[in-house]
Amino acid sequence: MKAIVFEKVKSSKTLVLREVPKPIPQDHDVLVRIHAASVNALDYRPMQMGIGMPKSRIFGADIVGIVEAVGGQVSTFKPGDMVVGDISDNGCGGFAEYVAVAEDALVLKPAAITDEFAAAVPVAAVTALQALRDKGDIKPGMNVLIYGAGGGVGTYAVQLASYFGAHVTAVCSARNTELVRSLGASEVIDYKLEDITTSNRHFDRIIAINGHHPLSAYKRILSPDGMLVVVGGSLKQILTALFFGSLLSLGNRKIRTLAAKPNVRDLEFVLELVASGKLRPVIDRHYPLEETAKAMQYISEGHAQGKVVITIGSK
Ligand SMILES: NC(=O)c1ccc[n+]([C@@H]2O[C@H](COP(=O)([O-])OP(=O)(O)OC[C@H]3O[C@@H](n4cnc5c(N)ncnc54)[C@H](OP(=O)(O)O)[C@@H]3O)[C@@H](O)[C@H]2O)c1
Repeated sequence: MKAIVFEKVKSSKTLVLREVPKPIPQDHDVLVRIHAASVNALDYRPMQMGIGMPKSRIFGADIVGIVEAVGGQVSTFKPGDMVVGDISDNGCGGFAEYVAVAEDALVLKPAAITDEFAAAVPVAAVTALQALRDKGDIKPGMNVLIYGAGGGVGTYAVQLASYFGAHVTAVCSARNTELVRSLGASEVIDYKLEDITTSNRHFDRIIAINGHHPLSAYKRILSPDGMLVVVGGSLKQILTALFFGSLLSLGNRKIRTLAAKPNVRDLEFVLELVASGKLRPVIDRHYPLEETAKAMQYISEGHAQGKVVITIGSK
């Protein structure tokens, strides 16, 4: 089968299209012929940092495809089923024609969702859900700030915060303001024109997804019982939240760091919202499997508008 394999030759790191053996499903595995995948930070960060490389050297966590065969102990799926999953806990391998993956990483794809839209959902939408609902304990009527609203996680976060009944203020660049407004933000701030952290505004929840501010700057614009949930952004922002978040949480204003986990119930929840038209995957670009390296390069530059999808093979 064709796969995009990470190769390191001397100091150069590349992603190359290779012919590799088709995987054989074990007892609890499902063999999926992949139709589409999407790119996430968890795909390009290991390449940049040199740690967390998948054993197969094939990246790709978000997949959608058709079940071609199942292992002897598989009870949930049968050949011909269309499935979706975040396979990052199963060694990744989505930038390929086939993957063999544990059945408990997958869910059935609702028929109403196209392959490309389904591939754009798992990691980004589940991250946004876990940030708002689980870490953030979001409630109707809250004033929520989504900082870095234009990317994969941000476009879902704006929609989910609005779905949960919050009043949403979104921060993004001019390129994304109309989009983010159309996703449900009541107010949109262009971070190149205004620094919200120096304003007199106050928010019950701040979800920090992209960009960078010192935690103290976010904390200043939290309401008295407010909470900052750090999802991503610059490495400095993430590391400070990890190491100093609990210390800085002394008092009523809390700081929490999200480490999103693949969760099939959460995935079914967001897919159902997509199928019923309540959640809209935003897709910036499509690339064929052969051009995955270009897709990874584009995403790693940090300015994708929503998701980047890889289309694989013929359906
Ligand atoms: N904690 C977790 O478990 C978890 C899970 C998934 C992802 N993450 C992290 O979450 C972050 C977002 O992931 P993603 O997939 O959404 O990334 P992404 O799609 O690559 O984000 C791109 C977006 O970031 C925006 N952006 C760039 N610089 C910005 C700035 N200074 N201020 C505001 N917005 C800015 C860009 O908008 P403009 O073009 O308008 O600048 C673009 O729309 C990453 O850091 C990722 O590592 C964390």
